This record gives sequence, C-alpha cells and structure tokens, in this order.
Amino acid sequence: MKIAVMGYGTVGSGVVEVIETHRDVIAKRIGGESLELQYILDLRDFPDDPHSDKFTKDFNDILNDPEIKVVAEAMGGVNPAFDFTMKLLKAGKAVVTSNKELVAQKGLELLKAAEEGNTNYLFEASVGGGIPIIRPMAQCLAGNNIEGVAGILNGTTNFILTKMIEEDMSFETALKLAQDNGYAEKDPTADVEGHDACRKVCILASLAFGKHVYPNQVATEGISNISLEDVSYISSVNGVIKLLGQIKYIDENRIAAFVSPAVVYNGSQLASVRDVFNAILVRGDAVGDVCFYGRGAGKLPTASAVVADMVDCAKHVDRRKIFGWGEGEEDYVVDYKSTIEMPFYVRAKMSENQVKTIFHNVKFLSRKGQPSDEVAFITDCMTENKLMKKLENAEVLNIIKVTNY
Ligand code: HSE
Repeated sequence: MKIAVMGYGTVGSGVVEVIETHRDVIAKRIGGESLELQYILDLRDFPDDPHSDKFTKDFNDILNDPEIKVVAEAMGGVNPAFDFTMKLLKAGKAVVTSNKELVAQKGLELLKAAEEGNTNYLFEASVGGGIPIIRPMAQCLAGNNIEGVAGILNGTTNFILTKMIEEDMSFETALKLAQDNGYAEKDPTADVEGHDACRKVCILASLAFGKHVYPNQVATEGISNISLEDVSYISSVNGVIKLLGQIKYIDENRIAAFVSPAVVYNGSQLASVRDVFNAILVRGDAVGDVCFYGRGAGKLPTASAVVADMVDCAKHVDRRKIFGWGEGEEDYVVDYKSTIEMPFYVRAKMSENQVKTIFHNVKFLSRKGQPSDEVAFITDCMTENKLMKKLENAEVLNIIKVTNY
C-alpha cells in the first residue's frame, strides 16, 4: 500500500526508518501487503538523504495521487497541518498523526472530516509517545465508566524534576541539561509551563468522556515555580513532586481537568516514573487503576505509535472505525478551584501557632536548613478557593496540590 509522510523532522524520519526496518513484520500484520513510501513532504532540502527521490515540496502531489491511501502527518503545529489533514480526509485518505496541538485544538473538526470522507483519523502518538493509551482508553476500557485520569505527560519536565529530586540540582541547571540533551527546545515554554501536557489532557479528556475539551478550558500551571526547598520538604514525608495532568469525572455534564505540579507519595505507581519517561494512570469503575508506562517522546518510540496507526488504517482501508468524540460545551469543564477538594502542601513565612489558628488539622514538614520564620505543612482536604481564603493574610511562598493517585 502506498503511503506518504508529511514532515521529516525527528518523528517523520523515525516513521520512515521504522517502516523500512520493520518491513516484513508490518506486511505480515497488514495481511501480506507492505507499506510503500511514495512521498516525503518537507520544505527543507535533504540532498544526502537515501530517500532523496521521494521528497516533494508540493502537498498536491500527495493529495492528487489516487494510490496514496494512508498519510502520516508529523509536521507539528496547527498550520498548515490542519489544512492539509482536512483536505486529505475529505478526499478519503486516512491520516495518522503525532501532532497533539492539532488534535487538541481541531480534533473534532478533523474527526468529522474523516466521517465525511469515510476514512480514519488516528492519533495514538499524540499522547504518551510510544505508550499505548489512546486505543486502550477507547477500546480496552470501553466497559468502564472512567472516574479519573492522572498522567505524567511531559518527558522534559519529568527529567528536570527528577534531577531536582535525586541530584539536588536547581531548576535552571536541570533545564539547561535537558536542553543540552535535546529533550527541551531552545524556547522551553511549552514544556516547562505545562502547555504540552495541557494538550494531552484535552485529548485524553475528550476521549474518556466523549465531548471535546479545548486547551483554554484546562487550568494550566508549569514547574518553573518549584524550588529545591519544596522538593526537600516533600521528600521528608516520602513524597515527590510531579507535573500531573488530572481529569476527574463529576457527573454526566461536568468534568474537572487541570495541569499542575502535584505531590505524589512514594508507593503510587506515578512516584517511581523517572527521567523522560511518561505514565498515565486511568481509574475505571470496573477495572480499578491501570497504569500505562513507557517512553513518552523521542524518534523511534513516537514512530512506533505512528506506524501502528498506519498499519491499523491499512487494515481498515475501506472501513471507518467508530472512534472519537462529539461537540464540547462552554461550562462542561468546571472551575476546579471551587469544586474539587484535595489536600495541599503550603510553604509560607508564618509560625506554627499562626498555622494552627487558621487550620484545624495539618501535618508539619521539616527540612535541613529550615529558617525559623518558614513553615511547610500539608492541609486536610478542601477546595483551592477555601485554602486561598484561609491564607489571604499570609506570606505564602508556594502551594502544591496533593494527589490521591
Ligand atoms: N516535548 C515533549 C516532552 C515531547 O518533553 O514530552 C512529546 O510531546
């Protein structure tokens, strides 16, 4: 079956490599037919690349070639990936993608276009890189009401936090190391400020509960505010700080979804997820907790998921898989700050007695070198709005959610 790859960066070149190095096994899995690379779309020149005869700068070569049945989009960003994907789907060509930004913002429109073209739009690689999570959520957990999801969805921030926790490295030094290792971009904002994790939360929430959740509906906080002092206090109670994407079912018409640093106690499956690894814990009412773990980024892990989607499309070339979600609603994602109760870690310039007069029951934490005017404590369960009201006159240094996953 003839295929095309759009975008020849890290993921696109990985897709080409996996298709070539796994030719026989892929053919067996499709049922005899192999995936034949026909075009690589990229505006850049790759004169020394062994596939130089496959390159095109003209998208219409792919769109107008009736033999191309499956296209992998690994361009990233919304434009022109959205326009290209729309045209391909409407023309009846299946498209698979690793592009989380596009699926989070335009997934509903693209799924509708796939329906119109009687074809498939698949995006296993958009969340968790090589970790199987989209198909398990949509298919294997179909007999559950999903109660919640908590995920370490960004490898760069998990790498930075791991260095802070295990090597006492400052945030700035760990970020520089992540950049030197090629994990973080030169402009690390999307990773560090939680936007990448937010997009993945949108995709998981849309899939879990059937209504499109958009990035602007998900309250998002990154890790740039986390200090080694916080890491130290939290380690004294056998906990670690992770950047978590959390989704909670409230009722038929409401969910909560947010991205933020969170205290995870050792013993949770999420606590032991180190370095650039990702993990997604899904809580179903029949199955209980299931955890999906693996490499959430990188050339071959991400290509592994993209190629799996291509194989699936090749096997279903004349059939549409019933897969996706419906329209979103403005008030569907609630303000979690007034709705969801949880314990909080607080670090503040206060005395223990001042804390005790405000809170009935807290657990005080300590650290080496703790200044006499600094306290850190874990509260009882309450909403964030209630916590902020209690702390309105305090000099707060940091607040971190404590998770029950
Ligand atoms: N920059 C992302 C990460 C890549 O660090 O996880 C995968 O989305």
